[in-house]
Amino acid sequence: MELRVFEKYPDLSIGAAAMMINYIERKPDALLCFATGDSPKLAYQLVAETIKREGTDISKCFFIGLDEWLGISPDNTGSCHYFLQQYLFGPMGVESSQSCLFDAMTTNEEEECKKMNKIIAERGGIDLMVAGIGMNGHIGFNEPGTDINSMAHVARLDEITQEVGKKYFTEEVAISKGITVGLKQVLQAKTLLMMASGKKKAPVIKRAVEEKTGTHWPASLIQQHANGVLMIDTEAASELVTQFR
Ligand code: F6R
Repeated sequence: MELRVFEKYPDLSIGAAAMMINYIERKPDALLCFATGDSPKLAYQLVAETIKREGTDISKCFFIGLDEWLGISPDNTGSCHYFLQQYLFGPMGVESSQSCLFDAMTTNEEEECKKMNKIIAERGGIDLMVAGIGMNGHIGFNEPGTDINSMAHVARLDEITQEVGKKYFTEEVAISKGITVGLKQVLQAKTLLMMASGKKKAPVIKRAVEEKTGTHWPASLIQQHANGVLMIDTEAASELVTQFR
């Protein structure tokens, strides 16, 4: 794993966006998997702007969403679907045939998981995984204690995730279950980019970087990844024993 510390969130976003664009240029038929949330938001906007401006060919890429809140409709502004469409897929000009997101309104959760597993398997695994880190150390909706060999699955969201998740919604919603790409698939991604920023993420990062790696704190599993890149800002790095500048 490589740790890169940037001064502030915009610097981190520029760095992350550059890495994503560079990846697409080097592997134009890549399978890219994207988290949503505050951490990658600006980076996604920068990726979309750059791709449009430079006319980067994304026609052979395939894009998948890392996770979704079960039961939340895609037109809800707090859904992962809405987020990716709004900040990345729409502005970048991704065709509907080039992407797959979990259907949060499904009546057949097992089929949804199978659908995602099949896409990932058929493409030989995820090429670039872009993830954030939850306040409980989760990656996607792989909550602490998730089986390291898990494939796409439905997860019961823990209290921290449900509480923190309220920030994405303008109204009160029930977000007790999520559907997510599994830990195995995340860890098998050829490159794993994780992002975190702000003071509140400092204790989360400390555990991810300095604690013994394990599923009790899923983000710490990036330590085991040969091509894992953890991009954070100085605030998120502020509790690390070794200061990386
Ligand atoms: C969302 C997702 C989550 C977030 C995490 C951090 O698609 O995968 O695991 O990445 O909860 O969220 P932010 O970036 O909002 O702090």
